[in-house]
Amino acid sequence: MEGTFLQSVKYDGEKLYILDQTKLPEVTEFLEINKIEDVWDAIKQLKVRGAPAIGIAAAYGLVLGIKDAPENNFEIFYEYFKKQADYLATSRPTAVNLFWALNRMDSCAKKSNGVPVAEIKRVLEQEAHEIRREDENVCSSIGENALTLFEDGMTVLTHCNAGGIATARYGTALAPIYLAKERGMDIKVFADETRPLLQGARLTAWELMQAGIDVTLITDSMAAMVMQQGKVQAVIVGCDRVAANGDVANKIGTYGVALLAKAHNIPFYVAAPLSTIDLETKTGEEIPIEERAAEEITAGFGKSTAPEGVKVFNPAFDVTPYHLITAIITEKGIMRGNYSEELPRLFDK
Ligand code: MRU
Repeated sequence: MEGTFLQSVKYDGEKLYILDQTKLPEVTEFLEINKIEDVWDAIKQLKVRGAPAIGIAAAYGLVLGIKDAPENNFEIFYEYFKKQADYLATSRPTAVNLFWALNRMDSCAKKSNGVPVAEIKRVLEQEAHEIRREDENVCSSIGENALTLFEDGMTVLTHCNAGGIATARYGTALAPIYLAKERGMDIKVFADETRPLLQGARLTAWELMQAGIDVTLITDSMAAMVMQQGKVQAVIVGCDRVAANGDVANKIGTYGVALLAKAHNIPFYVAAPLSTIDLETKTGEEIPIEERAAEEITAGFGKSTAPEGVKVFNPAFDVTPYHLITAIITEKGIMRGNYSEELPRLFDK
């Protein structure tokens, strides 16, 4: 896939540059980070967000975190490494890509036992680069696979942001849209605003407009009407974790969109890299759902919109049960319905 995409996470060997997604669309600004605590904070505050981008940032965060680790003995180094990894793992609970990336770095560190520690640090930096590079290819393949489900002239609806800035490049749910544009196909998009943090309005609408794609912004509560009026032929979303039975955690509101799609007989697609599939988690019930600060709802973006002291429930994600999902699109192909059997096969060597 061609096209110019902003790389939301990049590392130059010294500093980590993170596109501050909380400032978009007004300001395009990169944070310059050289310590692990600032990576933790950037993940926690959603300055870097979207499951694959969180994983990539964490891998580089670990590279920063072990810069000063003692180099004379592997066991002491590894203990230091583990502490930094465990710390990053506390930043956000739902997107499994965070833990996937940290585990991958861990395997790489363990495999390097016997090599001088200074060299292990270089190997780990290369592994972080590799995680980023691989994600770029994975997103491109997801785009190719997903595009086989779309037709010229279609309009699709998406929720939250599973675009280029949520990944290494291209995005997951938005990858087929970019690919379609490149191939001269006309695919239009409805972007749900995505309460309360407005990833759909601030990020998806911005990204798609930059790429010259026809996007219409709606509030979350308008999705039903848009479907009822026959304006949408498919829904495609990204995800933060796929359980072994095909249940999927994604941004709060996704479950509602899936129910609406079912009621209107519209296919509901989930784009998921293998790094988001967690076979250790049997069903959606086991997926830890992050709860965030009440102020995101009562005083979003600085304006008070609720009575002071009101009780608030603010889960950042919900779980869409497998039976509402028409297909899960991965870099290795499209799974349709029989997820308990199809998902494990993806990991066969
Ligand atoms: O809280 P966020 O903005 O990190 O939530 C992101 C999502 O829900 C995305 O849909 C998901 O991570 C997939 S990104 C390719």
